[in-house]
Amino acid sequence: MKVLAINGSPHPSGSTATALRLVAEELLARRIEVEIVHVGLDAVRGCTACGHCRQPGVHGCVFTDDPVNACLEKARESDGILLGSPVYYGGIAGTMKCFLDRFFYAGAHLRYKVGAALVCLRRSGGVGAMQQLYNYLNLAQTVLPPTQYWPVAHGSGQELMRDAEGVQTLQTLGRNMAWLLQNLAEGGKTVPQPAHIQRVWTNFI
Ligand SMILES: Cc1cc2nc3c(=O)[nH]c(=O)nc-3n(C[C@H](O)[C@H](O)[C@H](O)COP(=O)(O)O)c2cc1C
Repeated sequence: MKVLAINGSPHPSGSTATALRLVAEELLARRIEVEIVHVGLDAVRGCTACGHCRQPGVHGCVFTDDPVNACLEKARESDGILLGSPVYYGGIAGTMKCFLDRFFYAGAHLRYKVGAALVCLRRSGGVGAMQQLYNYLNLAQTVLPPTQYWPVAHGSGQELMRDAEGVQTLQTLGRNMAWLLQNLAEGGKTVPQPAHIQRVWTNFI
């Protein structure tokens, strides 16, 4: 089994990367492979709502000059998705927002994969940013593992390791994610995924 982890921080060795690694260690200890992709330093366009990705037979975003399509392909081969972002002004980092809007709008194949998320911050605004990440995971119909607390870890850079409860929360998230991945893999042998139904799309008019 494999988990694709996406780091939305511009710092490949910052607190978000440290937090992702704490979760990854728990997964690796249970023989679940983890690939961490750092997107926070890339030039990533926002979604232009062109509808290209929703056309029949199209798998991916019309823009091919940033990591979105490569990550969609990696996600196709993965059983789980782990999102990590620093908190910027009470929300997720801007580059991560641009990345996730396009990744999830084009990511119909993420349905029923395990989805987990974490945010890192210095002081305040973590729960709002977490909720932003959960919005993507929920609407993609991913399956979220339980956590002992919201996975919001405090401290810049390696300071994060001094947030004992935050570290424990991330480790619990990793263990629970592994448990859920293993259960879905086992259960999937006897219980099929729900049949896909054509989506109803009504505006509030
Ligand atoms: C533009 C910007 C906005 C930030 N906004 C917040 C904030 O709203 N709340 C907070 O606690 N920390 C805020 N921070 C601090 C970062 O969230 C914090 O340093 C985080 O640990 C950085 O993660 P990284 O090391 O993975 O990049 C902000 C930092 C930057 C650069």
